Amino acid sequence: MIMTPLVDTDQGTLHLKVMENVKFDLINRTKEADKAVAIWLAVIAGMVAAMVIIGGITRVTGSGLSMVEWRPLLGWLPPLSDEEWQRIFKLYQNSPEYRYINTWMDLSAFKSIFWWEYIHRLWGRLIGVVFFLPFIFFLVTQKIKRRLLSRICFLFFLGGLQGALGWWMVKSGLSSDPSVSQYRLATHLGMAFLILGLLIWTILDLVGTRDVFVSKAIFYHANTVTVLIFLTVIGGALVAGLKAGLVYNTFPLMGERIIPSDYFSVEPYWRNIFENVPAVQFNHRILAIITLFAVASLCLCSHFFCRNDQLLKSIYIMTTLAAVQFLLGVLTLVNFVPEGLAVAHQFTGLCLFGASVVTSWGVSMRSGYSSSQAKNI
Ligand code: HEM
Repeated sequence: MIMTPLVDTDQGTLHLKVMENVKFDLINRTKEADKAVAIWLAVIAGMVAAMVIIGGITRVTGSGLSMVEWRPLLGWLPPLSDEEWQRIFKLYQNSPEYRYINTWMDLSAFKSIFWWEYIHRLWGRLIGVVFFLPFIFFLVTQKIKRRLLSRICFLFFLGGLQGALGWWMVKSGLSSDPSVSQYRLATHLGMAFLILGLLIWTILDLVGTRDVFVSKAIFYHANTVTVLIFLTVIGGALVAGLKAGLVYNTFPLMGERIIPSDYFSVEPYWRNIFENVPAVQFNHRILAIITLFAVASLCLCSHFFCRNDQLLKSIYIMTTLAAVQFLLGVLTLVNFVPEGLAVAHQFTGLCLFGASVVTSWGVSMRSGYSSSQAKNI
């Protein structure tokens, strides 16, 4: 605690000054604690982003169905002996992916696909550890404010749920049809984006500042953009899950038409949205175009009517990312989904969503200070 030398002998003034110093000291300590918690959450956010890339590589290298067991507690150890390799290879040989697609595979080829899925699962466990141990420390040292505690517990729950969703997704590819369900892939990817979004929001609540009033129009516009980006992401996951990027590899037309002739080939009609390959690809394109226009118009409006430099910066970054993401999507499609482009498209999508969350956070409080200051989370 900092004690200011007092020259005033009046008791009331003395009391006030001491109180002021105590308050100042408390605010400083709270800020430091917030910063420490924010750094911890930022490390987790970085690890979640890396997890999305590893997951993308696992998918595009066809490694996702190589581990047919789920051992949440013991599975962190890789096979350490020849016998163990033989055992898990035998398990894989009984899986539909091996029996229908990879019959040519020997043990060394199996090892190369095994490692990506193994690293994916190991990284997930590591995130759990990096989450849990500092959490206990922050809890014991009372660095996490009470209001924030429930959100952090919720994040921990979502992380656990995401692990279970991952296995639920893999399981769908171990049935008679050796490909994972597009519904489950979209749920798993969507949850990863939501977890990252909530992490970014919480970090900003702890250390971010919002200092300028923004109009209602920009508030709604920015939040609509975030929702549109998220919907496009889910649409992209359906494209990836159905391998719908391997047909109609032209842009902007699909088979010399804007709307493909087989858009409504599945009955009942609503199933086309989720299960018909040309329709799923078309919907992703349309959503991407609407999103790009919505981002561009937000950028234009904000450029002329918003005077918050920090907010403007995040909108400019988001607009650039949206343009790059659109271009990457087209390149991925017309080149028949090469691994490198597919992973870059997925990762830029994640950065774009992250930038939109930062923007939404920036517009979400229209009084003069940040929600952490306002609500004292
Ligand atoms: C705002 C724009 C866009 C966003 C946010 C976006 C997002 C995504 C996401 C998240 C995926 C799933 C990736 C995965 O799970 O591996 C995806 C897949 C895909 N997207 Fe986009 N996308 C956008 C624009 C486009 C455009 C304009 C095209 C082409 C016309 C396109 C073509 C594809 C294709 C072909 C895939 C499947 C890739 C694969 O199988 O790995 N995307 N997109």
